[in-house]
Amino acid sequence: MTTLLEELKGIVGPRGWTTDARALEPHLTEWRGTYRGRTLVMVEPTCADEVGRIVKACAAAGAGIVPQGGNTGMCGGAVPDSSGQQVILSLGRMHRVRAVDVENFSMEVEAGCILANAQEAAKAAGLHLPLSMGAEGSCQVGGNIATNAGGINVGRYGTARALVLGLEVVLADGTVLDSLRSLRKDTAGYDLKQLFIGSEGTLGIITAASLRLYPDPGELTTAMLGIDSAGAAVEVLRRLKVALDNRIEAFELVSQRVFGLVTQHIAGARSPFEVEYPWYVLLEAASGGGPEGLEKALTAELDAGRVLDAVVAKNETEAAELWRLRHSIAEAERQDGKALKHDISVPLSRMQEFLARGDELLAELRPDARLVAFGHVGDGNLHYNVVLPRTLRDDEWAAEGTRISRGIYDLVDELGGSFSAEHGVGQAKRAWLREYRSGAELGLMRQLKKTLDPANILNPGKVISVSYTHLRAHETRY
Ligand code: FAD
Ligand code: MLT
Ligand code: ZN
Repeated sequence: MTTLLEELKGIVGPRGWTTDARALEPHLTEWRGTYRGRTLVMVEPTCADEVGRIVKACAAAGAGIVPQGGNTGMCGGAVPDSSGQQVILSLGRMHRVRAVDVENFSMEVEAGCILANAQEAAKAAGLHLPLSMGAEGSCQVGGNIATNAGGINVGRYGTARALVLGLEVVLADGTVLDSLRSLRKDTAGYDLKQLFIGSEGTLGIITAASLRLYPDPGELTTAMLGIDSAGAAVEVLRRLKVALDNRIEAFELVSQRVFGLVTQHIAGARSPFEVEYPWYVLLEAASGGGPEGLEKALTAELDAGRVLDAVVAKNETEAAELWRLRHSIAEAERQDGKALKHDISVPLSRMQEFLARGDELLAELRPDARLVAFGHVGDGNLHYNVVLPRTLRDDEWAAEGTRISRGIYDLVDELGGSFSAEHGVGQAKRAWLREYRSGAELGLMRQLKKTLDPANILNPGKVISVSYTHLRAHETRY
């Protein structure tokens, strides 16, 4: 009888699989090294048809499939379990930009297309793909859609979900679902693509996408502001939005401590200011009526004392330098060591309250903890990370971590926010999903999972725990 491994090798051909330990190494752990797994094999198909045949073979053998894009995810979603029986399905060889439709303001790309390459292709056609984040040089469009990624442009353009017009998805029985329409309006039945956006590979494998594009925003002005409090930043954002007729492309908040981590760990990174400020904002605005629009609006904020200092980039090189500071935060934080990461969102109107009460809470729960706060405050998403004293043993760290995270998530929940704003749930936040989603929501999620993946082969154990009573005991361990 042909084993699953032999069957998979036959489907993808000699260049489409590996069991080599060195080649597999980067695929068995995630970016921060928090999770690690093993695998039977990593397959790299070249088309949706091959993905369908892989899925059928795995379904017949009862083997779990872990879709993997750029493996830049923050929650262990693309890492296999420790059984060594799961199959990693890498989308890396499905990377073509199939077409850019200039008149329709859309593009069709394969799931394994690196985000930066998709951005470039849109730009070459005179258009703009407004999904952007520090990982854009290695994350893939399929991974962005599977996590409903956010990034720096959400306030103006929405998350990945808002940019998806159509999807091609391989279902758990190997069927290729072609929903690759590129329409703005389509009320024909249920909008099936929505099920797969943000489902982290647990409901289907995304093989291609039709994406919404925008006109080139034209000249952008980039500025860094020194600010006294995060609350002032929220107020400045509100005023600039009005003054600039909503032409704010990005509005990122960074605390002085985070800035310090970047200048400490990232070679060549230095502050554009001569003195330190408690908070910084990195903002980008489309010029529209000319760069003086932003400068005039900033002068008003400086005069009113809401902004303490401002540096406006004079050219693209200076703008890129400022953005390098922001995009290096994740790397600086990684080099600094273990942190309790909280990727939270609250309505913008509750942001000031969250920050004030968050400070009080941390002081009460753990006065010796360090807050590392930064994020996409323009859309209400903060990375509210906490560093615990390095002297704690691993078991103490875990217990303290849970206690502090619960305190923070309770506050977020009370303010109508989410414990998972843009990184997804993966393995890291399954328990929190159970606590902060209602019984009715969890019930429907489980029902969807069972319906779309009746044999529990699509990224089993990620996002939501489901009991599959009809499966054998070893298959229900998730
Ligand atoms: P992976 O990490 O490979 O996978 C993520 C999840 O999606 C896994 O569950 C995987 O199984 C599933 N998946 C991947 N591809 C597919 C597919 N084709 N079909 C079905 N399921 C699939 N995220 C943000 O939202 N905003 C940010 O600003 C941001 N900045 C980042 C900066 C850095 C430096 C880093 C390292 C990460 C950052 N992230 C950010 C997190 C991460 O980049 C995003 O979540 C990204 O969308 C993941 O894409 P990926 O291709 O790497 O997916
Ligand atoms: C970011 O905003 O830089 C990312 O989401 C990465 C992170 O949170 O570390
Ligand atoms: Zn982020």
